[in-house]
Amino acid sequence: MHRVVTLESTGAAKDFTSASQNTVQAMEHCRQLEAGNILLFPQSPIMLAEEDLAFLRGLEHGHRSLHKNLAYKPLQDCIAGAKLESNDPAASERLLRILRSYSRGALQFLTEFLTPYTARWQVDYASFRPLEEQGRALPLHKRNDLLHTDAFPTRPTHGARILRFFTNIHPTQSREWIVGEPFRTLIPQMVPSTTPAPRAEGLLQRAARSTLGHTSLGKAWPALRRSSYDQFMLRFHDVLKENADYQTNGQHTAVSLPPGSSWMVYTDSVPHAVLSGRFALEQTLLVAPDAMVTPEESPLVVLESLAGCRLV
Ligand SMILES: [Fe+2]
Repeated sequence: MHRVVTLESTGAAKDFTSASQNTVQAMEHCRQLEAGNILLFPQSPIMLAEEDLAFLRGLEHGHRSLHKNLAYKPLQDCIAGAKLESNDPAASERLLRILRSYSRGALQFLTEFLTPYTARWQVDYASFRPLEEQGRALPLHKRNDLLHTDAFPTRPTHGARILRFFTNIHPTQSREWIVGEPFRTLIPQMVPSTTPAPRAEGLLQRAARSTLGHTSLGKAWPALRRSSYDQFMLRFHDVLKENADYQTNGQHTAVSLPPGSSWMVYTDSVPHAVLSGRFALEQTLLVAPDAMVTPEESPLVVLESLAGCRLV
C-alpha cells in the first residue's frame, strides 16, 4: 500500500556530508517514488514571497474569467488556459513572473534532490489551481475527486513517467487526497486473472487501433501520436473513474497535505483523488523510462509483461 514518506524541509538534498551519501539517498528517494510513495515536505523547499502568495489567492475574486486551472509552459515562458482581463496587463505580467519563479524553483530543487533523474526528464507544464476542489461540477472524466491515474490526451509520454511536484499555498487549509493501491497490483484486478496475457493483449490492441497517429493531426505532428501504451493509459484513467465499485470499495488511504507543504508523486501509477482544498501550485516532469532505478515498477514494464508485446 502507498505511504507518505515525510522528509525534512529545505535543503534535504544538501545536508549530506558527502557526494556518495547524497547519491545513495537520492537513489532511495527515486526508489520510494517508483514504489508508489508520496514524498512530503511539511515545509515547502520552494519559497515564494508572501505578497505573491496573497496575489495568487486573490485572483479569483478579482478576475471572474479565472474559472479553471492556469497552465504555465516553461519552455515557451507563457501562460495558457484562462486569461486575466486584457485591460490588466500588470496583473498578467505579475502572474507570469510568479509562475515562472515557482517553476524554476521547483526544477532547481528537483535537479538537486533527484540526481538519478537529472537531465533525464522533459519539462512539462506547471499549473496554478485556484478553485476549491470539493463540490466542483465537472463531467465524470474530468472530476478530480474520483480515483484515477494521470494520462494526458494532448501529450503522449510513450512510456515516460509523469512525476508531479505540488505545493499547497492555502494559508490554513490542508489539501485532502485519497490514494489507491499501486498500479502493479491494481492492474491484474482490472484485467481478469484467468489467461491474463491474451486478455490484456486484446485490450491493449483494441486501444492501439484508435491512436491519434491515424489522424491527419497525428501525421502532421508526430509528437502527438499516441503509442499503444498511451492509448491504454488514457482508457485506464476513464475506466477507473467509471468504476463505481472501485471508487466505493477499492482499497484506498486518506492523505492530508498541510498548508505550506510540498509533495511529489508519480501520478501515472498512483491512483489519486483530490477531495478538497484550493490554491495549489504544481510542476510536472516527464521522466525517461530508462532513468528508473526500479524499472519493473513502471506501468510500461508492467503492461508489456502482461501483454507479452512491446507497447511503444
Ligand atoms: Fe490527477
